[in-house]
Formats: sequence, structure tokens, C-alpha cells
Amino acid sequence: MIQILILTIVHINGLQMEDKVSYLPPFNMSDQNFSIFSGYLSITNNNQSFHYVFVQSQLNNLDINVPLVLWLNGGPGCSSMIGFLQEIGPFVFMNEDDESLQFNEYSWNRVAHLLFLESPSGVGFSHNPLNITFNDQQTADDNLKIIQEFYSSYPEYQKNPLWLAGESYGGAYIPLLAEKIKKFNDLEVAVINLKGMMIGNGVTNLTHLPISQLIYQKEHQLLPPTFDITGCEKNVTSEECENINYDAWKITKRINPYDIYGYCYYEENEMEDELQWIQQMKQFMMIHNNNIVNVTNHDLGVPCVQIDNIQNYLNDVKIKRYLHVDENIEWFMCTKQQNKQFKYVSDPPIVMKVLQELLDFNIYTILLYNGDADSVVPWIDTLRSLQKLNVSITEEWRPYYVKNNQLGGYTQGYLNKLRFVTVRGAGHMVPQNDRITAFYLFNQTLNEETF
Ligand SMILES: *[C@@H]1O[C@H](CO)[C@@H](O)[C@H](O)[C@H]1NC(C)=O
Ligand SMILES: *[C@@H]1O[C@H](CO)[C@@H](O)[C@H](O)[C@H]1NC(C)=O
Ligand SMILES: *[C@@H]1O[C@H](CO)[C@@H](O)[C@H](O)[C@H]1NC(C)=O
Ligand SMILES: *[C@@H]1O[C@H](CO)[C@@H](O)[C@H](O)[C@H]1NC(C)=O
Ligand SMILES: *[C@@H]1O[C@H](CO)[C@@H](O)[C@H](O)[C@H]1NC(C)=O
Ligand SMILES: *[C@@H]1O[C@H](CO)[C@@H](O)[C@H](O)[C@H]1NC(C)=O
Ligand SMILES: *[C@@H]1O[C@H](CO)[C@@H](O)[C@H](O)[C@H]1NC(C)=O
Ligand SMILES: *[C@@H]1O[C@H](CO)[C@@H](O)[C@H](O)[C@H]1NC(C)=O
Ligand SMILES: *[C@@H]1O[C@H](CO)[C@@H](O)[C@H](O)[C@H]1NC(C)=O
Repeated sequence: MIQILILTIVHINGLQMEDKVSYLPPFNMSDQNFSIFSGYLSITNNNQSFHYVFVQSQLNNLDINVPLVLWLNGGPGCSSMIGFLQEIGPFVFMNEDDESLQFNEYSWNRVAHLLFLESPSGVGFSHNPLNITFNDQQTADDNLKIIQEFYSSYPEYQKNPLWLAGESYGGAYIPLLAEKIKKFNDLEVAVINLKGMMIGNGVTNLTHLPISQLIYQKEHQLLPPTFDITGCEKNVTSEECENINYDAWKITKRINPYDIYGYCYYEENEMEDELQWIQQMKQFMMIHNNNIVNVTNHDLGVPCVQIDNIQNYLNDVKIKRYLHVDENIEWFMCTKQQNKQFKYVSDPPIVMKVLQELLDFNIYTILLYNGDADSVVPWIDTLRSLQKLNVSITEEWRPYYVKNNQLGGYTQGYLNKLRFVTVRGAGHMVPQNDRITAFYLFNQTLNEETF
């Protein structure tokens, strides 16, 4: 008995020791008062292994009240290293075209432990068996298994309150994972201490997303007032609507869809090939036939987004060694064909149903936040979905203030611990565009405080 116990402890410390990161240039971890771990967590029976980065909080690590936050970027097919190195981690590319990492004063690890997961396993440095077609249910099942794997390697964090956070297609990943956790907790003795979730510019209902995008673009004078979108308002799957979208993308092609007042980074040839540009936009605006997301690879790149700094960093073999990842994998922000293929077919009508179920349980805090300068998942689209949910408003729209009493945006409260908030001037990646406000909303929500 005693021997088994000792062996287990040695095993645990072994994984934590192996995965501990010593250096993330230009930061020597021995100068920091928290640790970072990076490596793989595996699901043994199906050949998948998931790259994770675990960032300890800057708070006391023995305090089980410090929240643990699982972060998932979207896509599907985009990597949570975006969250780690651009948005909420302790070292980030502070400005879009910075070439080296800087210390992030507004890192979410000031108040929480952060677990970044490259999921599903076709993404980033994770390993997947070839010819898997990922879907929403399987991804949620796998994410649950990986959380359990994490707890078995890092058992000292099992009691901490768990929060799920992320953005964009994370709007599908997160509620589905929360539902799996709830079902798991209902069956098991050992429960996962899930407290809530925070979703930024998340997808909810793909049927009205294309219409919301067009309305948003018109309201913001990105399309001329004469631009006619009634064909889409009538029938979003019609050929007429498809033509309207194509015309819209031709007009808006130098506007960064993720941050409409931001800069559009592009390569000249990319812009010249109009058909290619339209295909790229179609994929990233999540416009798909039959209202399902059907993504193969993002071989055409991410429209208007600066990706060189993070891709150069993560593909440097020295960095790969510091992170204990497979050196043979070329890392892309969003999956490309290079060394693995990626196929994902979603089942989005399910998101609204699961959100409703989670609300009906009335045990999880749910924060939906939207940068109001994003045209990919515009705030009006999230609002439209909220209006469809069976949940009453408890607090009407009101402004909130940040940064010396400047207007942060507007918020509305609902029954069953749901809150919606807009972030003024931020795009799709809210914590990257407005670090101060994002940290404030995050910390207030963790503490069940209002803003
Ligand atoms: C990091 O700092 C430690 C302690 O000062 C030192 O021994 C180590 O060589 C440094 N690592 C690098 C890669 O500079
Ligand atoms: C896992 O990989 C092994 C060796 O490549 C293969 O024999 C096995 O069929 C794979 N299992 C699954 C479930 O894909
Ligand atoms: C770690 O350092 C930060 C400042 O960089 C400080 O705010 C925090 O209190 C420190 N944490 C501990 C546990 O000493
Ligand atoms: C994957 O599927 C493609 C097309 O169905 C096939 O050509 C290829 O051989 C498969 N690869 C593996 C490793 O099974
Ligand atoms: C999704 O949006 C469409 C179009 O507005 C609407 O008809 C449908 O009821 C919505 N689905 C759900 C589950 O709310
Ligand atoms: C919308 O257009 C599609 C494609 O033309 C068609 O199959 C479908 O029946 C139309 N839906 C409605 C409600 O008219
Ligand atoms: C997804 O897209 C691929 C390629 O465009 C197509 O072959 C496949 O049938 C689609 N799957 C679904 C379920 O629509
Ligand atoms: C909406 O919620 C109320 C109580 O919260 C419930 O009585 C009612 O049946 C629900 N309606 C639907 C359509 O689910
Ligand atoms: C986080 O919020 C709590 C409660 O509002 C507050 O006491 C604390 O100072 C905040 N932490 C930071 C780092 O702002």
C-alpha cells in the first residue's frame, strides 16, 4: 500500500518535472514566481495526444480557492497558443507586429491558473490519427478525458474552482464540454468543480450569423447604404444570398473582419486572387452549406491577421525544445495540410439547445462578452440568440466604466446567472485588443462581482 502510494507520487512529480519549462525567450522562468509546464496529455485508447500549456497563477499555489481556467480558441482548427502568446498569458506579443514577447501586466494568471489546450487533436502541436473527422460531440468527450488526465497528473488542482473560457468557435466547444462535465458529475463520486464559463464573440446559431454579419457591416458603413441584403434576410441558403455575400466580400476585402478599425495584414498575391480571397473569407466567416461548419484545412491563411511573429516563434526548434513538443510538427495558427490533415464537421443547431440546458440547471455562471468591433461574430448576433433563449432579463442594458471612468461598453443581466456584455472598440480577440477591460471583466466574474 505504502509502496504504491510512493510510486504514484514519483510518477506525478515525474510528469510535472519533465514538462516544466525553464526558459521562454527572453524570459528565464527562474526569474518568475510561478511555473509553466508544457507537454502532452494523452487519451490512451485512441492514439490522440493533446499539447497543453499549464501556467500557474501568480497567487499562492497551495490555495485551493485560486480558480483554474481552461482556455480554448476557436476555428474549428485554430490553436489555443493564440490565447497563450497573444491574449491572456504572462508573456505575449503585445502589439500585433512585435517580434518578441513582453511581460503582460494584465495576464489572467495574476488571479488564476491557466490551462491552454490545443484541441481537437488535429490542431497545433497535438497528435491525431490520420483521417479522423472531428465533430462537436467527440471533441467535447475528448476534452473531458483530457481534463481528467490533467487532474491525474496535477492532482493538487482538482479541488480548485474550474472555469471554461475561450472565444469564437469556443462558443460551441465550451457549452458542450460543460454539459459533458455536468453529466459526468451526475454519475461519478469524484466531481469536477465547474463554476462557470466565459465566452468571447462565440458562435451560437449559424443560421442567422451571415445575416448579422451583413447588417453589422451596413450599420458600420463598411458596405454602402445602397447595398441590398434583403435576399439574405429572406433565405440565407439561397443562391441569391450567396451572391450577396460574394459581393460584400469584394467590397470589404481590405477591412480586417475581426477588428474592423484595426489593420489588415495581407500579402499582395493573396488580395489579387479574388476567388481565393472569397474562399478564404467564406471559411473564416463560417458561412457553410446546410448551416454546418465543415472545415478541412485553412490552407489559404487567416484573412488580415498578423501571424508571422507567433508562427516564427513556435517553429523555432529551440522553442519547441523548451516547450517539449514534437519538433517534426510545423505549427500553424489555424490548421494547414503540411504534416497533418484536419477535417471538422459540426452540428451547430446543438449549441442553442445545450446553452438552454445549462441555463436551466441554474448552477453555472455564464458570461458572454463581445468585442463590439468584430464583424465575424458581431455582438448583434449574440444578442439575437439570447432573445431566442428562454431566460428572463433581470437587469436592463446599462453602461459600465473602466480605465478612469471611460465607457467600457454595455451590459445586460439575465436570470440563472447569465450576463451579456459588450467591450467598446475591441475586436474578435477581446483580451488582445483591450487587455485592461478583459482582465477586469474576467476578475470580476471569477469573484462573482458585478461591473
Ligand atoms: C536561467 O537562470 C538560471 C539561474 O540564474 C541559470 O542557471 C540558467 O542558465 C538560465 N537559463 C538560460 C537559458 O539562460
Ligand atoms: C493506434 O495506432 C496503432 C499503431 O499505429 C494502430 O495499430 C491502432 O490501430 C491505432 N488505434 C486506433 C484506435 O486508431
Ligand atoms: C509574484 O509577483 C507578482 C509581481 O510580478 C506579485 O504581484 C505577486 O504577489 C507575486 N506572488 C507571490 C506569491 O509572491
Ligand atoms: C486517408 O483518406 C484518404 C482519402 O480517403 C486516403 O487516400 C488516405 O490513404 C488515407 N490515409 C490514411 C493514413 O489512412
Ligand atoms: C437559429 O436562427 C434561425 C434564424 O433566425 C431561427 O429560425 C432558429 O429558430 C434559430 N435556432 C435556435 C435553436 O434558436
Ligand atoms: C432557400 O433556398 C434554398 C436553395 O435555393 C432552397 O432549397 C430552400 O427551399 C429555400 N428556403 C426557403 C424557406 O425558401
Ligand atoms: C464537407 O466538405 C467536404 C469537402 O467540401 C465534402 O466532401 C463533404 O461531403 C462535406 N461533409 C458534409 C457532412 O457536408
Ligand atoms: C421557460 O421557462 C419557464 C420557467 O423558467 C418554464 O415554465 C417554461 O416552460 C419555459 N418555456 C419553454 C418554452 O421552455
Ligand atoms: C480582483 O477582484 C477582486 C474583487 O473585486 C479584487 O479585490 C482584486 O483586487 C482584483 N484583483 C486584481 C489583480 O485586480
